[in-house]
Amino acid sequence: MQARLDRFLSKHLALQRKAIKPLLASGRVRVDAVVVRDADQMITQFSHIELDDRILQQHAPCYIMLNKPQGVVSATKDPRHKTVVDLLEHEYADDLHIAGRLDFNSTGLLLLTNDGRWSRNLSLPDNNIRKRYRVTVDKPLTQTYIDAFAEGMHFAYEGITTRPVELIILDDFSAEVILCEGRYHQIKRMFGRFDNTVLTLHRTAIGSLVLDNTLSPGESRTLSPEEVTSLTDPANQ
Ligand code: URA
Repeated sequence: MQARLDRFLSKHLALQRKAIKPLLASGRVRVDAVVVRDADQMITQFSHIELDDRILQQHAPCYIMLNKPQGVVSATKDPRHKTVVDLLEHEYADDLHIAGRLDFNSTGLLLLTNDGRWSRNLSLPDNNIRKRYRVTVDKPLTQTYIDAFAEGMHFAYEGITTRPVELIILDDFSAEVILCEGRYHQIKRMFGRFDNTVLTLHRTAIGSLVLDNTLSPGESRTLSPEEVTSLTDPANQ
């Protein structure tokens, strides 16, 4: 998200806009270590902004993979339960948001970031980023499920039909589910059409990014720059 530097300075320093031009002209403001005199200069949430020796903004982008355990809420705050953010020991933990929630009892790959543009790109169905899940259910699976998932299901509450979902049956009671969107409780509701309860639901991958099997439930790690860019790269979908 971009913003004008003069607006940022005016808000941050509680100065009127007309006071900003002379401030910039004096050469006291630096963006990413470069003196900026132009009031039209655009900045992002990750621009490093200084006035003399004072740091006005310092946010490095941050991307985290967490192996979400059961019984933890995909939220940043919750009055009753532990949240996924409570599991992180990170200096930016309070600024993070979740890129694609998992239900309270679902487990597996969860991404957290402070980069809104990146998380929006991940969630847009048109970007075709495939999310893979392992599920176990309490009634046997048949070809009828595969056909119904591929065809799409109408969700009357939202007035939408789900995009085609790939279902790979692994044995009578377990399957892999691959989808490009993330409607509310989508997988549980799709199996629910067959009156079949999802017993466990574990996300194993998002696009090219596979859950790191060195991470125990509750553990997390920072993504590498290559992982961050390859995840939203259309060539990898
Ligand atoms: N679909 C669900 O029903 N639950 C999840 O946690 C993820 C996808």
